[in-house]
Amino acid sequence: MNIAWDAGKYTKDFSFVHQYGSAVAELLDCGQGSTVVDLGCGNGALTNQLKNKGFRVIGIDASPDFLEAAKRSYPEINFIQADATSFSVEEPVDAVFSNAVFHWIDKDKQALMLACVYKALKSGGQFVFELGGHGNNALIHRELARIFAEYGYHYKMPFYFPTIGEYASMLEQAGFKVSYAVLFDRPTELKGENGLKDWIDMFVKTPFEDVADSKDREDIKDMAAAALKPALYKDGKWYADYVRLRMKAYK
Ligand code: BEZ
Repeated sequence: MNIAWDAGKYTKDFSFVHQYGSAVAELLDCGQGSTVVDLGCGNGALTNQLKNKGFRVIGIDASPDFLEAAKRSYPEINFIQADATSFSVEEPVDAVFSNAVFHWIDKDKQALMLACVYKALKSGGQFVFELGGHGNNALIHRELARIFAEYGYHYKMPFYFPTIGEYASMLEQAGFKVSYAVLFDRPTELKGENGLKDWIDMFVKTPFEDVADSKDREDIKDMAAAALKPALYKDGKWYADYVRLRMKAYK
């Protein structure tokens, strides 16, 4: 999915994405000096954390906006513009890492991405990643779908949130040995009084492309926030209903 990202706003208001990613990186147990690809590196913040752990790093992302921001913030890191479903590396690497990226890839393109990861790894190389798991943001998407229908639109779910079983099976079909998998709830605090509407603005872009009227687009987001307030607003803070799928596999 090609999204025009506002890298500045993302870095300022959604830094929790890479902050939570630190725990995923702890699953990497290759030694210092190992080469790690950060697949879907975004603004490069996690790539830099991996570098600070002593890894040699390569950041890969499809978004020119993100890569420009990443190169500006971390000019000493090797960032490459490529799509996760067609990337390649010059030399096989020790590990591929990814945080909060794979749910953006359509289900029918996941196998292409997994084949690229497999090819990029040395024999025995590690694949450590987290994505939105089954049930991720279910309340938000259900409410948006309901309101879209009220306005006469079909809400096309823009993400792929697999179960452990589904994704482990895809990994095995791609040749990987799965060593770790966990699916867990992670209610996630959003910034500011408009936290949920801002989150929808930042992340739920493609369904709104079908809504021609800009007032309708704003009204739908406001209605969703109002309807979800009892469930997702507590003690003056918004929380998104995140569910994570965290896994590790070997080539
Ligand atoms: C996630 O990290 O799970 C996610 C973030 C934004 C949109 C959809 C999913």
